[in-house]
Amino acid sequence: HTDRRTQEETDMSDEETPVPTEAEYAEGADEYGEYDDDGEYDDGGVDMAGARGMRSDYCGELTRDDVDRVVTLCGWVDNRREHGEKLAFIDLRDHTGIIQCVVDEKHDLRREYVVRVTGTVVGRPEGMENPFLATGAIDVQNCTVEVLNKAETPPFMLNSRQDIDETLRLKHRYLDMRRERMQRNLRYRSVVQSAVRGAMEDQGFTEIETPLLIASTPEGARDFVVPSRQQPGTFYALPQSPQIFKQLCMVGGMDRYYQIAKCLRDEDLRADRQFEFAQLDAEASFVGQDEVIEFISYAIAAATDAVRGVWPEDIPQMTYADAMEYYGSDKPDIRFGMTLVELTPLFEGTEANVFKTECVKGIVAKGGAEEIGRNRIDELTEMCKKWGAKGLAWFRVGEGLALDGGLTKFMSADELSGLPQMLEAEEGDLILLQSGDRRSVNDVLGRLRLELGQPPVDEGLAFVWVVDFPMFETINDNGDPVAMHHPFTMPHPDDVDYLVRKGGESMLKIRSQAYDLVLNGWELGSGSVRIHDPEIQARVFAALGFTDEEAREKFGFLLDAFSYGAPPHAGFAFGIDRLTALLLGETNIREVIAFPKTQSGSDPLTNAPTPISDQHLDDLGLRVLPPAE
Ligand code: AMO
Repeated sequence: HTDRRTQEETDMSDEETPVPTEAEYAEGADEYGEYDDDGEYDDGGVDMAGARGMRSDYCGELTRDDVDRVVTLCGWVDNRREHGEKLAFIDLRDHTGIIQCVVDEKHDLRREYVVRVTGTVVGRPEGMENPFLATGAIDVQNCTVEVLNKAETPPFMLNSRQDIDETLRLKHRYLDMRRERMQRNLRYRSVVQSAVRGAMEDQGFTEIETPLLIASTPEGARDFVVPSRQQPGTFYALPQSPQIFKQLCMVGGMDRYYQIAKCLRDEDLRADRQFEFAQLDAEASFVGQDEVIEFISYAIAAATDAVRGVWPEDIPQMTYADAMEYYGSDKPDIRFGMTLVELTPLFEGTEANVFKTECVKGIVAKGGAEEIGRNRIDELTEMCKKWGAKGLAWFRVGEGLALDGGLTKFMSADELSGLPQMLEAEEGDLILLQSGDRRSVNDVLGRLRLELGQPPVDEGLAFVWVVDFPMFETINDNGDPVAMHHPFTMPHPDDVDYLVRKGGESMLKIRSQAYDLVLNGWELGSGSVRIHDPEIQARVFAALGFTDEEAREKFGFLLDAFSYGAPPHAGFAFGIDRLTALLLGETNIREVIAFPKTQSGSDPLTNAPTPISDQHLDDLGLRVLPPAE
């Protein structure tokens, strides 16, 4: 530490301030317990060595090494405790942490007052240290205090660990931000972004900004639109992603593009979804899937290392087909087992009507025979019905692997003995079965698995690449397939022949060169090898049900660009919000966004969205209709 005090500041220290006794210390220190239970403040690797302005030091950085130094600190009064007439303990807080300052009583200091404190760093007597505070071995004594600004009483306690109503937090986000959680999260978000940027630059990528006012990008969500004033009746779309532009950059010979891009999608909000979010978006020329997986893995590892201090090596890969068969999900949470087991062969020729279906599969809840009671089973059955199942078949595994459950009387001896065997169930387990068409069996069991499975609480990170996604998700009512990723995704070379107009169910078998990165059951990112051949692109558009005119109208500019020599290229994008949240152990991305929207899409702080004036509407050539019935 450099001592940057001026002589004047030194002179400000008030020699008259009495030094607290041990008993007074104890009283001051007692109240810390509520504040912090993991003790240390981590600055997230941010370099604090900048110009310090009105202060000589930061609160959270003082240690026993600073004892006897006179320091000047600036911040907010986190808490104050009076001791008789002569002493007050203030917990002074800045962005690095908290330190206890002992001051005289001349000031009317209240919570959240902005103050500048000058005093001497003193080591606390042995046994009087506060283990819950990073600076708990010292405090600042003989303090003089300058009030820089007063503050109203905040609408919630900033140093409380209790849950605070989220709308209240968002309405006063600037206060919520003073709290340790948001300080930590926003700082780490910055750490993630700079790690990712560094990793991309290391690998020869160039950051290129793409426009926000665009035509539409087909990512499958609804566009937010912006009316044009100069051309009334026309609209810009805000980008759902920079997809088209990054591909144009490849045609433009930029070779390796990346961007931390703001994307906007008008979709229902959930824990992992906001209208606005940030992507690490990347695209590269003359590469395929393997290279993309390599450079994205590197960026993800760099971010993980920066936050968690571990470099994830060799992220495993799983095919989409396996993910669906074993986990019932295209974003498998592989932190725990409880995988879906194929039982169809066991029930071939069964007498039990419920199992006379295309597919029977099961999962085992370890120790569930006792743990999961009748009420819970009824609850689970209702859930399964909500997910589209007819019901839920269940069996308790008893002594000698004997099964107990409503359906046993319809089952053969082979079925009764084969079931626990195939599932590798043990006495005390609960077996849960689904039968029906394969797609819904997988889906329902996959959800049930997540409902019952217990991911370890050690905050482990289970990354997995899911590869070989199918080209199309479903066939819609018109008989047209719906793209799984987006219409620029290259089909698997062996499957191109199935690509025909109105090709029916067989089109669902077409694999694409698309891949996702999954972390702890969340889709972190997606990408694909792109079509660079205009002929294949035309076939995909046709298969999707676009007429030539429609394709030209929507994407003519892209097809034109590709006719001038598009290099083979591939890319990826992952969500910065999702990655940051998962790395920090948060379960909602709102916790890592400075000013997010609520679930209903509004901002309680600014009240957005708000109406606009009639004049403004006139300028834009717009009329607002009365709300629909
Ligand atoms: P995709 O649509 O899969 O791919 O988006 C990539 C990643 O962006 C994040 N994401 C979101 N995060 C928060 N809120 C949302 N509403 C939201 N929507 C998406 C997710 C997701 O995995 N252009 C392609 C990428 C490519 O092919 O290169 C794309 O945008 O983490």
